[in-house]
Amino acid sequence: MYQVKYEKGLTIKALVTGANKGIGFEIARHLGKRGYDILVGARDEARGQAAAEKLVAEGISATFIKIDLNELDSLHTAANMIDSLDIVVNNAGIPDRVKPRRASLDMTKNTFDYTTEDLRATMETNFLGTHALTRNLLSSLTDAAKIVNITIPISPTDFWHPLAYITSKAALNVMTLTFAYEFEKMGSHRQIFGIMPGAVATDLNGMQAGAHSGFVKSFESAGQMSTDIILSDKNQNGQMIQYDGKIATDYEVQLRIKQH
Ligand SMILES: NC(=O)c1ccc[n+]([C@@H]2O[C@H](COP(=O)([O-])OP(=O)(O)OC[C@H]3O[C@@H](n4cnc5c(N)ncnc54)[C@H](OP(=O)(O)O)[C@@H]3O)[C@@H](O)[C@H]2O)c1
Repeated sequence: MYQVKYEKGLTIKALVTGANKGIGFEIARHLGKRGYDILVGARDEARGQAAAEKLVAEGISATFIKIDLNELDSLHTAANMIDSLDIVVNNAGIPDRVKPRRASLDMTKNTFDYTTEDLRATMETNFLGTHALTRNLLSSLTDAAKIVNITIPISPTDFWHPLAYITSKAALNVMTLTFAYEFEKMGSHRQIFGIMPGAVATDLNGMQAGAHSGFVKSFESAGQMSTDIILSDKNQNGQMIQYDGKIATDYEVQLRIKQH
C-alpha cells in the first residue's frame, strides 16, 4: 500500500472511494483535470494501482490508497495516512450481497426475497463502511472541505425495489442530513451533500440501468455531471442533488407511497 502523507496547504486534494472503475473513476478523472491531487481509493491493490496509472498517463496527479469499506479497522489506518483533504467522494457501493455469478443489481428480485444476510452485507459496505471512513477523516478535512455521498432516491418505483440497496442508501442519506445539520449548527464552512446520478450503465447494474426508464447515462457523463455539482460555488450543505442539478426538496416526502 502506498504511504500517503501530504503537507498541509500545498495542494488541493480529493479522495474518491471505489475510484478504480465506473462513476468513481470518472469523478476522479474530472476532478484531476480540474487540478485536484487525486487519492484513488480502491479495495483491490492491482485494480487501484491500474486506475491511478491510467490517470497519471492523462497528466493527473493520482495515488492509490487502499480503502476497503468492509475492513472497518483498516479505515482508521487509511485515514491516518492523510494529513489534509479538501474533498471526499463516498462513491464505493454495492447493489446487494455479492454472490457468485450475480455481482450486479437484480432488478427483478422481489422485496420479500431479501434475507437478513443480504441486508447486513449491503448495509455494512454502503453505510457502516462509508460512515466509519467519513468519521475517521473528519480531523483531516480542511475548513471548507466537501463530503459528497453518491446515492439514490429511496422511493419505491413501479419497476424496481431492491430492499437492501435502498435501505443502505436511505441510512447514508440520513447521515448526510444529520452531519449537515451539525456543520450548520457549529457555524462550520464544511459541507456534506448527496448526489443522485440517476440511471447510469455500470457494472453495478450489469450495464442495464435505465432499461425501464428509457434513459441511460454513460459513466463518463455521470462523472462529468457529478464533478460539476461537486465544484459548484454554491453552499450545498444538506442538499440531495439530482444529476441535472435539481435539488430534491421533497426528500422526506419520497418516503410516502405513491397513490395510483
Ligand atoms: N449506476 C447507477 O445507475 C447508479 C445510480 C445512482 C447511484 N449509483 C452509485 O454510484 C456509486 C458507484 O457505482 P457504479 O455504478 O459506478 O458501480 P461500479 O462500477 O460497480 O463501481 C462500484 C465501485 O465500488 C467499489 N466497491 C464495492 N465494494 C467495496 C468495498 N467493500 N470497499 C471499497 N470499494 C468497494 C468497487 O470496487 P471493485 O471494483 O473492487 O468491486 C467499484 O470500484 C455507488 O455508490 C452506486 O450506488 C449508481
